[in-house]
Amino acid sequence: MSRVLLKEVTKTFRRGVVAVDRVNLEINDREFFVILGPSGCGKTTLLRIIAGLEEPDGGEIYIGERRVNDLEPKERDIAMVFQNYALYPHMTVYENMAFALQLRKLPKDEIRRRVEEAAAILGIKELLGRKPAELSGGQRQRVAVGRAIVRQPQVFLFDEPLSNLDAKLRVGMRAELARLHQRLQTTVIYVTHDQVEAMTLGQRIGVMNAGRMVQVADPLTLYNRPMNRFVAGFIGSPPMNLFTGVIQTSPLRFVTASFTIELPAGIAGSAKPEQAVVLGIRPEDVVLDQSGPVSAVVDVNEQLGNEALIYLKLEGESVIVRTSPHDAPGPGTRVRLSFDPAKIHLFDANSGSRLN
Ligand SMILES: Nc1ncnc2c1ncn2[C@@H]1O[C@H](COP(=O)(O)OP(=O)(O)OP(=O)(O)O)[C@@H](O)[C@H]1O
Ligand SMILES: [Mg+2]
Repeated sequence: MSRVLLKEVTKTFRRGVVAVDRVNLEINDREFFVILGPSGCGKTTLLRIIAGLEEPDGGEIYIGERRVNDLEPKERDIAMVFQNYALYPHMTVYENMAFALQLRKLPKDEIRRRVEEAAAILGIKELLGRKPAELSGGQRQRVAVGRAIVRQPQVFLFDEPLSNLDAKLRVGMRAELARLHQRLQTTVIYVTHDQVEAMTLGQRIGVMNAGRMVQVADPLTLYNRPMNRFVAGFIGSPPMNLFTGVIQTSPLRFVTASFTIELPAGIAGSAKPEQAVVLGIRPEDVVLDQSGPVSAVVDVNEQLGNEALIYLKLEGESVIVRTSPHDAPGPGTRVRLSFDPAKIHLFDANSGSRLN
């Protein structure tokens, strides 16, 4: 059993920066769990607290059945892969991977067996004699992962392990990490600020903002039912269109300075007449529709081959529409739009909480 349980974990740095704010979280045994959030939201701090590299001001941490608050990092049975890999420059790849096992005084042939097996899994057998300076970024990344694998920990902690790689390599390594998890069947906690990485790798994702765990869910739930405006705007690329306006009743509609649309019954939840709300609609849920209620002018049109992204202007606002590559109108064209009523998200403008 290697679930990870966090109860009310809090960390405040000097100058009053609350890096981690009362985080409660249960990560299941063998789960690939992603912590996602913008720069500075507390992801690394939370991971370092789990690893035992940072002491929390309050709260409890369990790994498996053990409360680990008072255990040293090396007693926690975890392995962490850092963003900068932190390889020892004067050691060969083999020595880097073997080092932690030598400290644990494992027999020489057991160490050799584990290092060679990890090297085979990662495709770096022919690199074992080289030093880190003689490796590419992607190869160094593999060595850092290999160094974690050989320890056969209960839990892997990854802090943005792909952020130093170029885009193409990142996509390749992403798939490799998913495969590795399927093969090793070990709990993984993976930190990233890249929402595509989070969506593709995570069985569940915890979205953080300003030290708080804002929503924990599987990728599709996060995408289809974001609990608040922050998650709505953070997940999805290009991002969800968000408009600020008010609710009017009888008939039920959403009104902004630039357009008015009718809303399906029941969507406004507990919203009151004239309540300030934010309406969200994803680019793929906006339709070019000659009889649509919204009028806009095409600003830029990005042809991607498999789809087109149309950036439009309406009065003071802008809208992004995802459409088929064949019906992308050119810049300057005036078009009308409608919103798929089943795909409209409504949030309170002040609290940001979801209303529907
Ligand atoms: N040792 C420290 N002393 C003081 N403040 C710190 C320390 N480490 C982190 N912080 C602050 O705590 C907050 C959270 O930092 P953290 O490194 O956890 O963010 P992050 O989500 O990992 O960001 P990034 O995506 O940029 O890596 C930030 O405001 C940061 O400035
Ligand atoms: Mg970080």
